[in-house]
Amino acid sequence: MISNRTFTMIKPDAVGSGNIGNIIQAITDAGFQLIAMKYTQLSKEQAMEFYAVHSERPFYMELVEYMTSGPIVAAVLEKDNAVEDFRALIGATDPAEAAEGTIRRRYAESKAKNAVHGSDSNENAQIESDFHFTESEKIEAVIS
Ligand code: RTP
Ligand code: MG
Repeated sequence: MISNRTFTMIKPDAVGSGNIGNIIQAITDAGFQLIAMKYTQLSKEQAMEFYAVHSERPFYMELVEYMTSGPIVAAVLEKDNAVEDFRALIGATDPAEAAEGTIRRRYAESKAKNAVHGSDSNENAQIESDFHFTESEKIEAVIS
């Protein structure tokens, strides 16, 4: 099934380097519409739950610490084939391996501090969007 929504976070390194505006511009230039958006800071409990899938990985606590180290921007995005197209827009996990022009290539510091999150499946896009937003916070733009 092709879903038309995905979930993203602008991570603390990209917020700290002043790139919120540049990243949102790149996202909307690529044809994604904002459905919901929030400037917030994750608690340790929230970050641990959000990244629970990585709890056995060696970088888990480093990831939780980093994701709680400063504010983030969480957003729900809409576009045809949203999950796959957004992963292509952000590029590989490690910015050194990300294609030229991708958001991680342009704005990420390192494999750990890699500027943005993008859901990896339709199922996770739904779960992650619901983790951060209620249904009434998701607002469909009416283009006339
Ligand atoms: P994301 O979930 O944030 O969109 O990233 P991803 O799918 O490209 O990568 P994933 O394997 O899901 O890893 C989640 C996040 O963990 C950090 N990480 N650090 N130090 C390391 O070797 C390492 N590997 C992964 C990154 O912040 C990565 O985005
Ligand atoms: Mg991932």
